[in-house]
Amino acid sequence: MKQSIGIDGPAGAGKSTVAKRIAAILNIPYLDTGAMYRAVAVAAKRHGVAFDDEAAVATLIGAIDMKVRYSETGEQHILVDGEDVTGELRTEEISQGASLVSRVPAVRDRLTELQREVAHEQRVVMDGRDICTNVLPDTPYKFFVTASAEERANRRYKQLIESGQPAEYETILADIIRRDKQDSERAYKPLYCGADTKRIDTTEMTIEEAVEAILAEV
Ligand code: DC
Repeated sequence: MKQSIGIDGPAGAGKSTVAKRIAAILNIPYLDTGAMYRAVAVAAKRHGVAFDDEAAVATLIGAIDMKVRYSETGEQHILVDGEDVTGELRTEEISQGASLVSRVPAVRDRLTELQREVAHEQRVVMDGRDICTNVLPDTPYKFFVTASAEERANRRYKQLIESGQPAEYETILADIIRRDKQDSERAYKPLYCGADTKRIDTTEMTIEEAVEAILAEV
């Protein structure tokens, strides 16, 4: 196993931006594991499976085929049963669905297996909720990138407004708090910062400073 870099943290903490920059600087692939949980939610929706029907979601994960591919420009694509679902992953419904389907042990075990296969073949930067505690526990490079819920909601709000989309701060904050609770209180492999993981609180930090803090360690 190559010494990959694991970055965990709650929704909206800037993990993926930080992870992408580090991957670009080190010239290694970036694996967004949240996208894989989101793809399971998309598959559930297509098959008419309710996100919170744990038995049906467990059956579904055994029936679908998921592949991660990279385009020539390095963009990550997720294929479910051969179909590229990447364009469907970033809606509020799918964010919430991904958080719900990620509670199912069969889903976590299958995706963990796929993620380890990727890290087995090459050194990567991987971000998610259980990378340091579960997927790559032996890597020495473990980080937990976080920020206050209010700051995360504020960043998301600004992002939506700047891209001309409708946004309501209170709704965004409520969604973030609900997802934090689901992700950190689920029974199986919840989100937490392990004792051997470096915690980086970006509430009063820029993305560049967070990138520097990680690069200084690796
Ligand atoms: O990082 P994201 O917002 O795209 O992740 C969507 C959901 O997927 C998140 O709320 C919980 C789940 N997830 C997980 O349980 N474990 C991971 N390694 C990544 C994501």
